[in-house]
Amino acid sequence: EKGGYEHFMLKEIFEQPRSILDSMRGRLELGGSHLNMAGFRAYEQKFVNAQRIIIVACGTSWHAGLVAEYLIEDLARVPVEVEYASEFRYRNPVISERDIVIAISQSGETADTLAALELAKSKGATIFGICNVVGSSIARATDAGAYTHAGPEIGVASTKAFTAQVTVLTLLAMCIGQRRGTLSDTKLRELVAELHNIPSKVEKALKLDAEIREIAETFKDVPNFLYLGRGYNFPVALEGALKLKEISYIHAEGYPAAEMKHGPIALIDENMPVVVIATKDSSYEKVVSNIQEVKARKGRIIAVVTEGDTTIPAMAEYVIEVPHTSEILMPLVSVVPLQLLSYHIAVLRGCNVDQPRNLAKSVTVE
Ligand code: F6R
Repeated sequence: EKGGYEHFMLKEIFEQPRSILDSMRGRLELGGSHLNMAGFRAYEQKFVNAQRIIIVACGTSWHAGLVAEYLIEDLARVPVEVEYASEFRYRNPVISERDIVIAISQSGETADTLAALELAKSKGATIFGICNVVGSSIARATDAGAYTHAGPEIGVASTKAFTAQVTVLTLLAMCIGQRRGTLSDTKLRELVAELHNIPSKVEKALKLDAEIREIAETFKDVPNFLYLGRGYNFPVALEGALKLKEISYIHAEGYPAAEMKHGPIALIDENMPVVVIATKDSSYEKVVSNIQEVKARKGRIIAVVTEGDTTIPAMAEYVIEVPHTSEILMPLVSVVPLQLLSYHIAVLRGCNVDQPRNLAKSVTVE
């Protein structure tokens, strides 16, 4: 059932070229600009008139929500807030009938996410669900939504569910942008074409497996890790750190790279590995400066870069090259080496990667 893989987590990481394709299937046509999302169509007018979109989720799904904040604000120009479901539900939030609340949940059973959604519904907001498990509680509680179609995820640490969520949220942002007239037809076609290239780019990133295992060998015994990224790669830094904590029990923190100098820089010395996601995008030069700051303090840099980068390899101890893609689609590719890094470190430390201690696949109690 593990399809020849040693663990479900590894199988699920390697399934991503297909699961990403499955989450796009039937929803966009190659070369065209016609997007087909039934759940969106049902609430098209609400999305067009929305004054705000609030995303509620927990854990990895919350990280997918952060990517969606960038996507929706970029492509559709609707203000977005991303909330931890557990905080949102207890803080007497301001919610109106012109708000759309999107709940993101792999299992569709997370107690806090479900309660946040029920609260929003009681205040008259339109509620929309992005779930993986068909017929789950959150899917049933929502007015409309979109399934991620990643297939069953068995490993407790979420991998393919995350990339499927980001794929669906990308399509949703494109739908809203198209209907609101904030996304030009040319840009839309470009994105559709590039989305079709994503599965093969993820496939290429998976070929880094052996190389990443070697990096894991080097760092498997360290007590701490720092992950940095900016823009679309900031949520990826958070996700990389969460993956490492969950399955290897190494303390890791993810930060927006620029926040480093407001505190975490004090942690950096010759014993601190710093994973920097530094792909070629609009914040590239800024990230290069952040790498210099880490290097000046002798931090050990592991950089995820775009293929062909010649600047960062001269500064980093290890470089992981991923294929180039559009800035807004990069999380789908750049998260893959981080999933593999945490997987290999955990295996080398003898941890139970599919069922890490103290964690459950579905958190049905708050
Ligand atoms: C991370 C992880 C958890 C879940 C979180 C939300 O790998 O598994 O952080 O992402 O418990 O779960 P869902 O998406 O089922 O609501």
